[in-house]
Amino acid sequence: MTSSNESIRQHEYIEKLKEVTADLCKKTGHVPKANVTTFGCQMNAKDSEKLKGILVSGGFDLTESEDDADFVIMNTCTIRDNADQKVYGHLGVLNHLKKKNKFLKIALCGCMMQEKTVIDKIRESYRFVDLIFGTHNIYKFAELLYRMYTEDAGMIIDIWDSTPEIVEDLPAVRKYPFKSGVNIMFGCNNFCTYCIVPYVRGRERSREPEEIIKEIKDLVDDGCIEIMLLGQNVNSYGKGLSQEITFAELLRRIEEIEGLERIRFMTSHPKDLSDELIDVMASSKKICKHLHLPLQSGSTKILTAMNRRYTKESYLALAHKIRERVPGIALSTDIIVGFPGETKEDVDDTIEVIKECGFENAFTFIYSKRTGTPAASMEQCEERFVKEQFDRVLKTVQETAATKVGSLLGSVQTILVEEINEHKEGYVSGRMSNNITVHIKGDGSYIGKLVDVKLTESKGFYYFGEEV
Ligand code: 5AD
Ligand code: SF4
Repeated sequence: MTSSNESIRQHEYIEKLKEVTADLCKKTGHVPKANVTTFGCQMNAKDSEKLKGILVSGGFDLTESEDDADFVIMNTCTIRDNADQKVYGHLGVLNHLKKKNKFLKIALCGCMMQEKTVIDKIRESYRFVDLIFGTHNIYKFAELLYRMYTEDAGMIIDIWDSTPEIVEDLPAVRKYPFKSGVNIMFGCNNFCTYCIVPYVRGRERSREPEEIIKEIKDLVDDGCIEIMLLGQNVNSYGKGLSQEITFAELLRRIEEIEGLERIRFMTSHPKDLSDELIDVMASSKKICKHLHLPLQSGSTKILTAMNRRYTKESYLALAHKIRERVPGIALSTDIIVGFPGETKEDVDDTIEVIKECGFENAFTFIYSKRTGTPAASMEQCEERFVKEQFDRVLKTVQETAATKVGSLLGSVQTILVEEINEHKEGYVSGRMSNNITVHIKGDGSYIGKLVDVKLTESKGFYYFGEEV
C-alpha cells in the first residue's frame, strides 16, 4: 500500500523542523550539524540517503565528523555479531562527546534496533541515547526528530513489528550524482535458517512498477546514468501487487528509459532465478554483465539445513546456464563457513563449486549465531575448526578470482568512473559492466563519465588501464 497522506504529513514535519533548527542556531551561534553513520548493506546506504535528505530539508548541515556534530545518527546492521559490536563500541565514543557538547543528540535506527535484546541493553547501559527507531518507520524520521527536540521526554523509542505502508516522495541526499540505488522491494520471506533479515526487515513487499519507473526517470533527469535495483530477493519481485509482474518484465520496462545507460540489481536468490530473467539479461543493452548469486554453501546437506531450497547440482547447472547464455558475464557470490554441523567434507564441496563456477568475486563470511534464528539452536561448530576451513575457502576464492579476472587483459572495455583513487595520486577508479574495478590516469573531471579503456595490467581482483 502506498501512502501519499503520510508523505504530506512528513513534509509538514520537515517544515516544523526548520523552526527547531532555526532556534538551535540562535542558541549555539551556528547552523546545527548532523552526522550520519551507515553500517551494512546497500539498502542501509539508501536509507541513510533518505535520513540525510530529511535532515538537510529540515535545516541541518551535514558533517562527515562526529566531533563537531550536534546530532549523530547511526543506521545499524545486525547481519553478523561484529556489526552489533561496532555500534556498541561507537556508542562509548559518543557518550564521551556528549559530555563535551550539551546540545549533542544521539539517535539509532536500522536493523539492529528491531531486536528486543538490543533495545533492553541500550535502555540499561546506554541511557544517554535520545532517539531509537527501526526499519519499518524510517519514513517518520522528521516527525520523530521533531518530537525529540520538542517533547523533552527522555529516550524516545519507537519500534514497529511491521508495516504495510510504502511511503514515497521523501527527500534524499545522494552520495553519487551519476548513480543511485533504487528500492524495488522490502523485506524477505525466505527464512534461511542462519539469517536475521526476515525478522528485522519483515515480509516481502514490492513497490508498484509505476513508482519505480517514476523514481528512475526523475533520477535520470537529475543526472543519473546507472541505477542499482535493490531488494533482498529481487527475483520474487512483483508478487502480491494488484497487478502481478515479474522482475524480468520490470527490467524490460526500465530498459526503455531514455538516458539511462546501466542497470544493476541485487540480490538474486538462486532458487527463484527464471529463464525469463536470463533471456532479458542476454538481450539487454543496459543490464550490466554481472550477477551476484549467493551460494552460501556447496554442500547439499548444509544447503538443506540452511533452508536454501536448491542443491549443489542445481546451483552448478544454473551457473553454467547463465555463463553460456550471457557471454562475458561475471558471477559473484556470498559464502558462509562454519554453519552448524558443517564438516570438512562439506567445505570440500563448497571449494569444488567455487572452482567449477570460477567466481570473479566472492564474499566469504564466518557463520555468526543470530538469536532467534533456527540455526542458533543447532549444534555449533568449534571455533578453531571454522577458522581453518575459512582460510581454505578464502585461499580458493582468491586464486580462482585472480585467474578469472585476469582473462580480460589487453581488451578494451567501457568503465564508469566513480571516484578519485585515494591510494594512487593522479588516478581515478571506475567499474566495467561486469563490476570489476579499473584504475586509470585522470582527475575529477572524469567522475561520472563513461570512458573506453584498454586493460593493461591485471592485479587479481582489479585492473590498471589506459584511456583509448
Ligand atoms: N552469519 C554469517 N553470514 C551471514 N550472512 C547472512 N546471515 C549470516 C550469518 N548469520 C551472509 C550471507 C548473505 C550475506 C549478505 O551475509 O552470505 O548472503
Ligand atoms: Fe537472509 Fe536468505 Fe532472505 Fe537473503 S534470502 S535476506 S540470506 S533469509
